[in-house]
Amino acid sequence: MKRPAMFSLYPAVLLLSAAVASVAAASTAGASPGQEPRLRSPSATVLPNAQLASPQIARRVEALLKQMTLDEKIGQLVQYNDQGFSATTADGDQALAANPETKTRVDAMQLAREGRLGSMLNVVGAEKTRAFQEAAMHSRLHIPILFGADVIHGYRTIYPVPLGLAASWDTRLVEDVSHMSATEATTAGVKWFYSPMVDISRDARWGRSTEGAGEDPYLGSAMARAYVRGYQGSDLSKPDSVAASVKHFAAYGAAEAGREYNTTDMSDIRLRQVYLPPYKAAVEAGAATMMSSFNALNGVPATASPYLMDEILRKEWGFDGFVVSDYTAVMELINHGIALDAAAATEKALKAGVEVDMMSHFYDTQIPKLLDEHRLSMATVDEAVRRVLRVKFALGLFEHPYAQGAEVTHAVPGHRPLVRRAAEESFVLLRNAPVDGKAVLPLGEGVKSVALIGPLADASNEMQGAWGGGARTPDVVTLRQALERRMQQRGGHLLFAQGTDIDSDSAAGFDAALQAARQADVVVMALGESSAMSGEAGSRAHLDLPGKQQQLLEQVAATGKPVVLLVFSGRPLVLDWAARHVPAIMAVWFPGTEAGNALANVLFGDVAPSGKLPMSFPRAVGQEPLYYNQFPTGRPPGAADLSRPPAGDTRFISRYIDVPNDALFPFGYGLSYSSFAYSDVRVSRRALPLAGANRPDARSLLTVTATLTNTGKREATEVAQLYVRNLGASVEQPVRSLKGFQRVTLAPGESRQLRFELGFPELSFYDVRSRQIVEPTHYTVWVGGSSQATQQAEFDVTR
Ligand code: BGC
Repeated sequence: MKRPAMFSLYPAVLLLSAAVASVAAASTAGASPGQEPRLRSPSATVLPNAQLASPQIARRVEALLKQMTLDEKIGQLVQYNDQGFSATTADGDQALAANPETKTRVDAMQLAREGRLGSMLNVVGAEKTRAFQEAAMHSRLHIPILFGADVIHGYRTIYPVPLGLAASWDTRLVEDVSHMSATEATTAGVKWFYSPMVDISRDARWGRSTEGAGEDPYLGSAMARAYVRGYQGSDLSKPDSVAASVKHFAAYGAAEAGREYNTTDMSDIRLRQVYLPPYKAAVEAGAATMMSSFNALNGVPATASPYLMDEILRKEWGFDGFVVSDYTAVMELINHGIALDAAAATEKALKAGVEVDMMSHFYDTQIPKLLDEHRLSMATVDEAVRRVLRVKFALGLFEHPYAQGAEVTHAVPGHRPLVRRAAEESFVLLRNAPVDGKAVLPLGEGVKSVALIGPLADASNEMQGAWGGGARTPDVVTLRQALERRMQQRGGHLLFAQGTDIDSDSAAGFDAALQAARQADVVVMALGESSAMSGEAGSRAHLDLPGKQQQLLEQVAATGKPVVLLVFSGRPLVLDWAARHVPAIMAVWFPGTEAGNALANVLFGDVAPSGKLPMSFPRAVGQEPLYYNQFPTGRPPGAADLSRPPAGDTRFISRYIDVPNDALFPFGYGLSYSSFAYSDVRVSRRALPLAGANRPDARSLLTVTATLTNTGKREATEVAQLYVRNLGASVEQPVRSLKGFQRVTLAPGESRQLRFELGFPELSFYDVRSRQIVEPTHYTVWVGGSSQATQQAEFDVTR
């Protein structure tokens, strides 16, 4: 069940056999494309992407296109890995392929030589990319190959998984680490990252929650912009810039029941209000490419959806780049049952606006036939090729086709401080209760012996998360290594016992762990998931600590020693027992190359934690999907005590009978070693005339101010958050929605006035006709340290 340390190669063989099996089923099931949601008019004028849509690039693209043969054009629209396309099925039959009409194997190198391979995925290393690129550059028209890779949270120097990075709420940091990974990967010839993943995830069962920024569209959009800025910089043609591939378009994260690749179905309002904003933000930030998603949305697989790819992405948002399918997603249109054969799948995907076919081996085999049969026009093919070439010209690939500079093959020492800071900022302190009158964290001078227990304490491979890029495990500093050094420096000592494996039935290590705990002043437990339990195909129906870890935790806690629980995970877990019995708990995700050093810095208080949850931590799995910006319903629970079973007035309200509605640890929540107070929340105006507010270009219509004070004893950073609610609209609105945030560092006792500007983007919502509008309604704003902020002010939008 381990994902390989290098870029994971998808189990294509499994998919191919599944496809073959489903062709027959599809032919009887019939195609049901479903209903397209109603179309709407764009709310704002779309602007061309200055880097892609320049007149010089357009001239070069047209000149080249004129010289291209059909084979060369099709070549730009296909993507293979370095093994090419293998038609081998699970039972070793070489003759069957995903595309039943093609029995050939594809030799990627041969295609490159013939100028018939536009892009490649996950080809790692300067030597390999150079070999393929040389072949392409010696082909008739010398069109370079674009090398793409899953560099998701670092190339060689690894930083926290994106969910952890989002917990920093630090967009500048995200920009910096993204740029850092671009500087590393470009030395190996990679000029295209399949990142950022901006799918909103409100269901912790979905394993890919780890790859995104969590449940909120506003935070998700801010993160999306930061990644794109970091990867692409201000100039795509710089040697250390890479093109972003924003994925997975669209609404993949809404998979029903959190089950991987499952259907999504939702209203157009929800799509636009919750799921689309981060993709749109990325496009507005200049993202050069997008990746289509595996899921069907409202009955139409995204990879064949003209509504998503054409109406929204191109017509409404003015996207100038190209769309690549996800891995074999064109072929999977057969599995979805909307295409009976490879030709129909190709026709649907290409016409919808998916320009590049990743690994299906459909576009190259089917386009000629579709043209012959007049089911596809050359104009459609040309437009697809145009978009691909545009990105290649913008990237400067024709001038600089090869990797430049000394190849980065290890974690870069000079990058360690940045990824260490990223890890420190990603940790979210969930609980820090006093033991003998003093908070357990940070560990004080008096702590001379620490027992470090748990399967994640010394697991270097696990620290790299689900997509460790080209990470090298020996580069990782584990918690055990860092604490050993630290305890030595302090003249103390570290006792280590693994206790149990991540997922096993064995309690054989419990005794040693309990013995270590009894001898120590403090116990640090490193528990959680393996990195492979989240990420792609990592859906879980149980969200507790796997294996015997919960039992180990309970027995260690029973020793009476103060326990610090570090939770490693790619998603929110259910920590209800721990929240009642363990004094200190910190969510630490998968922190990356500098995991151990960052954890030691925070445990010993050199750095105060400042992370805030990007996703709600449930009390029970049955609450999922769980998110703070819910709708009120007609029977909101109000002040009812939901921790008690229903009785009388507290029964017929929107609630569970066996668990409260709210999260155990809500979105936006996180503690510090200091404390903060909010006061004086004010709005600059009590009334906003509708005419001025209901304009897409209206900005800074109103200022919200609040005072933030560091009421504790040390300097610390707080993420101040602004939430908005409006009542009286034509459409039910969430109980509150994030519309602003700031990271603020304050000395003890220091106060600062915070300012948040509200304009059309923050006040508007989608109505039943899918128009983004402001209506004359009553607004409440809250400013505080989590989605449960209580300090508020009010205003009205007036007719
Ligand atoms: C994943 C994508 C990834 C692609 C290429 C797919 O299975 O869904 O996120 O970019 O593979 O590796």
